[in-house]
Amino acid sequence: MLLTWTFSLVNTILIALIFEYCNPQTKVNTQHEVWQLETTSKMETLNDTPIKCQDIFKPLRKQDTHIRVVVTQGVAGIGKTFSVQKFTLDWAEGLENQHVSLVVLLSFRELNLIKDERYSLLQLLRVFHPTLQMVTAEKLAVCKVVFIFDGLDESRFLLDFQNNEVVSDVTQTSSVDVLLTNLIKGNLLPSALLWITSRPAAANQIPPTCVDRVTEVRGFTDLQKEEYFRRRSSDEELCSRIISHIKASRSLHIMCHIPVFCWITAAVLEHMLTTDQRGELPKSLTEMYSHFLLVQTQRKKHKSQQELMETDREVLLKLGRLAFEHLEIGNLMFYQEDLEECGLDVTEASVYSGVCTEIFKTECVLFQRKVYCFVHLSIQEFLAAAYIFHCYTNRNTEVLARVMRTHNNQFGYNEPSLDIFLEIVMFEALQSKNGHLDLFVRFLHGLSLESNQRLLGGLLGQTESRPEDIQRVINNLKEKSTYRVSPDRSINIFHCLMEMNDLSVHQDIQEFLKSENRSEKKLSAIQCSALAYMLQMSEEVLDELDLKAYNTSDEGRLRLIPAVRICRKARLVLM
Ligand SMILES: *[C@@H]1O[C@H](CO)[C@@H](O)[C@H](O)[C@H]1NC(C)=O
Ligand SMILES: *[C@@H]1O[C@H](CO)[C@@H](O)[C@H](O)[C@H]1NC(C)=O
Repeated sequence: MLLTWTFSLVNTILIALIFEYCNPQTKVNTQHEVWQLETTSKMETLNDTPIKCQDIFKPLRKQDTHIRVVVTQGVAGIGKTFSVQKFTLDWAEGLENQHVSLVVLLSFRELNLIKDERYSLLQLLRVFHPTLQMVTAEKLAVCKVVFIFDGLDESRFLLDFQNNEVVSDVTQTSSVDVLLTNLIKGNLLPSALLWITSRPAAANQIPPTCVDRVTEVRGFTDLQKEEYFRRRSSDEELCSRIISHIKASRSLHIMCHIPVFCWITAAVLEHMLTTDQRGELPKSLTEMYSHFLLVQTQRKKHKSQQELMETDREVLLKLGRLAFEHLEIGNLMFYQEDLEECGLDVTEASVYSGVCTEIFKTECVLFQRKVYCFVHLSIQEFLAAAYIFHCYTNRNTEVLARVMRTHNNQFGYNEPSLDIFLEIVMFEALQSKNGHLDLFVRFLHGLSLESNQRLLGGLLGQTESRPEDIQRVINNLKEKSTYRVSPDRSINIFHCLMEMNDLSVHQDIQEFLKSENRSEKKLSAIQCSALAYMLQMSEEVLDELDLKAYNTSDEGRLRLIPAVRICRKARLVLM
């Protein structure tokens, strides 16, 4: 799957503006404020300057003097980790960036494991890369070092750029978050280059003033999606059937710009099309992940029965509990104790993972201890949702109370109806600063559909999702107000609607985009989120986005802001 990765360069200033605007604490007087972003030479870069990962620190324009800190954003599974690994591998193999003497790749997943310990920068390097024992402070100061911090969204550190003490000596011991803020600010090892990756919702933890370049991993283009499926298999006919199914389902087609999703889709569709399976091919994300679980458990037994075995169900629920309890606290790596706490026998888990390696794996051995994780965060999010839905249908009040933390006292009961339950979980998810529950909530909505529950045969327990409950959930999503939520996050409400197989908003916007006279149609807030998302996903660049030109409420205009990323020019006036 070594397709050429392209990044597009997004203007840092523009991003800073958006983040400031979305911060609920910032009171912005919008009435007379005109934010007209002129087509300056800087803005021209918005016209999608692709950048290869080996050039990530290279100046591309006259005004790029020195690129020290680069932030690369991208949604889950889009290939951020892949990109930093490619950069590192190309360097290690002597192919690229040979003026760099040392590349240090650290993931926040791993850094989280030493959250409460104190190190100097030099010690930190040696802990994670024992081969660097011989590197001294003097050497470090004169050689060209690149630090890569992968997955800021997974970070459990509180990065306080305002109040953290200044550390400028690589041998000075301090807490890890202090080392990080000082590295990023350039107090510590100012000659080092830094590359930080993050899901978009968490990237604003780093003050824009510290960042010299912001890039975005855009994933596969339409052509690359097809190429991916064609390269996987030599069976031409199978490939064509897979590709035509994906093209026929708009939401799958959009999702396939995410490589991990292509991988899951390919596994599921190849299995379904080559074994004798009845039923429809999956269209939504939840359907796809449900089938993925089935495929994985069936593969192990070389059987084609379409139901989960009792033993599989037990293990999956235990994994689900592990997934949820750790997702809640942002933890994606587990020790043996964590597994045991959820009733998973490590030997059983490893036996299970031996045949089920596509779901759960041993990631690495750190400090002589084995560390486990899910093959991809989205799998953890799916299993967590399945577990919580199971708890909902089985009235596991203790767990539900945890999910509905802030609302529990308010409602005073633990058995809310489906619509209230989902509304509360959505509320909790929107409160999260880094969006760590977004995908979880999407899956939870998808699992409320009877068709998906049937698919997972008994994993979720006996449910009674009545059509009127489902309709209420859909209406709630359409009417949800999100004044204090960043517009990037609001798009998740639209995604939930898609998971519930309600395509009405999507169709409205498709018609809207085709219509001659756009201002005649008044757009609701959810339609604006859909529009912002669909504009971002389209491969064209808009000349101008003028928020005032849309016939919608203030909230609707706010929700359109994410579309600014694909425009050469934007006019952000609300009134
Ligand atoms: C578009 O709608 C506006 C407002 O309803 C109207 O004034 C204008 O004439 C319409 N234009 C076209 C081309 O239909
Ligand atoms: C906005 O949409 C509403 C409802 O379709 C319509 O009545 C109104 O004329 C539109 N406003 C403008 C300025 O076109």
